[in-house]
Amino acid sequence: AKLGIVIPAAGQGKRMGAGYNKQFLTLMGEPMLAHTVRLFEQSSYVSEIVVVGAEADVPIIVELVHHHKFDKVKICKGGVQRQDSVRAGVQALSSAIQRIVVHDGARPLLTLEDFHRFLDETEKFKAAIMAIPVKDTIKQVHETGKVIATLTRERLRAVQTPQIFDRAILAEAHYQAVSAGYYGTDDASLLEWMGYPVQVIEGSQENIKVTTPEDLWLAERILAMREA
Ligand code: C5P
Repeated sequence: AKLGIVIPAAGQGKRMGAGYNKQFLTLMGEPMLAHTVRLFEQSSYVSEIVVVGAEADVPIIVELVHHHKFDKVKICKGGVQRQDSVRAGVQALSSAIQRIVVHDGARPLLTLEDFHRFLDETEKFKAAIMAIPVKDTIKQVHETGKVIATLTRERLRAVQTPQIFDRAILAEAHYQAVSAGYYGTDDASLLEWMGYPVQVIEGSQENIKVTTPEDLWLAERILAMREA
């Protein structure tokens, strides 16, 4: 099946505190989003890429795509929540695309090697995600600060992207969720909400989401280490 990529990059990056969309902050002299898109441009398994940007950022993304000669890329306008952005991105893929990978614009450190391993290990699943064991003990906490419960760490995973889906299932989950007003912080949660099985594949500690200023610092160092 032909593979398409949806890259949600329409967030405001409030937790970064940069005052503008964090996807344009530079890593090794290039916007974070350029690093993220390049990986999929370079993969021979990928037919099409949709970058989902905030309306005000579309001209900058057009320029970025042109500058890097990313020829698999289409651009579409995002929505209020991440989920709205992904839904728009899925709709923008051409009808020949029957398998979809969703990957955050803010995860520029995924390697081609890990991406290809992910494709390989998820081939037989209709829905699968990358995740890593958590290092910290995770507690559920009441809004007053009082602890409600300590979750069993061995069973917990910190979920990343890429997440891969058969197109029909992902489109159906997004349709059902938006109709019901259900919102999740990733795409797999919409399938889970519908009772659909989702497979977990081991991710990478380096595949961080660049959210706060410390993450940017760490991302720079990981990239520098790879280049050395
Ligand atoms: O907010 P969060 O860190 O979960 O965002 C993950 C990704 O989703 C980021 O790349 C962000 O730009 C994107 N996003 C989006 N549209 C939104 C909110 C977030 O494309 N409305």
